[in-house]
Amino acid sequence: MINCFVINKNFLETSKLKETLGSGTFGKVSLYQQNQKLFVVKESVFKEKVTDLTKKKTVFGYPDYFINEIDKLIKFRPLIDTVVQLEGICMDADNRKSYIVLEMMDSDLEKWSKLNSTTFDMKMTIIQEYIQNIGGTLALMHNLNFIHNDFKLNNVLINYLNIPNPKLKLSDFGKTKYIDYSVINYGGITKYIYPFPGKDIYSIETWGFMLNLIELLIYPAKLFDSKHIPKLYIKETNKQEVMDDLKGYYNNFFMTDKGKFNIKKILKDNLDINNINKIPKIFWKVTKYICQNVNSNIQDALEYSGYKLDNTLKDIVYNNISHISDDKTCKGYLQFLCEHNILKSEIKSEIYEKYIILLSFFFNNIKNITDDNHNDNIKTYGSVIYYTVTGKKTIDFPFMETDIDKYIFLKMQEIFLNSINFQVLVLN
Ligand SMILES: Nc1ncnc2c1ncn2[C@@H]1O[C@H](COP(=O)(O)OP(=O)(O)OP(=O)(O)O)[C@@H](O)[C@H]1O
Ligand SMILES: [Mg+2]
Repeated sequence: MINCFVINKNFLETSKLKETLGSGTFGKVSLYQQNQKLFVVKESVFKEKVTDLTKKKTVFGYPDYFINEIDKLIKFRPLIDTVVQLEGICMDADNRKSYIVLEMMDSDLEKWSKLNSTTFDMKMTIIQEYIQNIGGTLALMHNLNFIHNDFKLNNVLINYLNIPNPKLKLSDFGKTKYIDYSVINYGGITKYIYPFPGKDIYSIETWGFMLNLIELLIYPAKLFDSKHIPKLYIKETNKQEVMDDLKGYYNNFFMTDKGKFNIKKILKDNLDINNINKIPKIFWKVTKYICQNVNSNIQDALEYSGYKLDNTLKDIVYNNISHISDDKTCKGYLQFLCEHNILKSEIKSEIYEKYIILLSFFFNNIKNITDDNHNDNIKTYGSVIYYTVTGKKTIDFPFMETDIDKYIFLKMQEIFLNSINFQVLVLN
């Protein structure tokens, strides 16, 4: 099932560091060369973070965003043309290191738009790609209840060197979540928040998708005053105040006096008329749809503009995600944990609801090791699995936070993640 390889642990030592491409919240991204081949390596910051100082709670194991990113890249792997490809993974408990290796792309859209060599005409060819392929990928993810959750121009990668037409791919799935449509708390990037509440997070991501496209067109002008993040307007008691605040945020040119978003104005203020005339129809259609339909869905916006979601592709991804879900094995696993006194039976149903897809995996997984292992090992292993998936500790969490314990934990986690082919659906 897993189509990527596990990287040899001396991979980095035997490769040549060519360039650092970026460093974000989760670690650094660099270009390495081995035997004339170039690889992009995304390392994760590997340290136990104390999440709660009063309880001195320590987070064990491989970072959850690292596990999550691998999981999502595997799930979305059928989207080979529009999602950056995972080439391999490395988990090195001995040296407390973990990283993923990705296919190399030429740049990201933010860096690319800042290059002197990038012309407005080139951006016009990108619009089509952006809407059809990146929009299409988001629409498909949304359709399957996944939110990207970190959508911005530097997370859209571009290949433009040595190919006739630029290609875009979505990347950076560390924060991607499986989430219910009714959830209206925004989990993504504050900068792209929709200032009026009540929208589900999928419409908000659709909104961000549109704002990023506008930013791409008007660069070097800025759509936002980043010092001036607006409040969330729950009640519009003083309309004028609200408008002033939002106008300040959108650098004065995005809101009309009636409180409508005015994309024409922002483009007129920042681009010359010849360039505005080059903007393809698809841009106007998509942005019009998103602005006019407050709870707009990216799929509808694309359909309104003449693009249909690729249902065959959707079915393939869906199968990739859901073949693992099995009600019987899930219940069996929970039963097993309770019988072995790893879990309290009272929380069985709550856990069941939340982690149904995952649990079926564990059961099959744990069954494989139970035949020739002692009861204590099973209990320890059960605790590692439970912690990896739920982030919670079992009744007698056997790890006392010493270095040796952490090492054993990492080793077991590594075995577990590899044995389930990394298919971990982290639901919260
Ligand atoms: N496969 C790739 N090919 C080329 N460049 C890449 C690739 N992956 C990442 N990069 C570059 O590295 C940057 C950071 O990568 P990524 O977004 O995956 O990491 P991150 O730590 O989550 O960053 P951030 O927190 O800033 O979003 C990207 O914006 C891009 O410029
Ligand atoms: Mg990023």
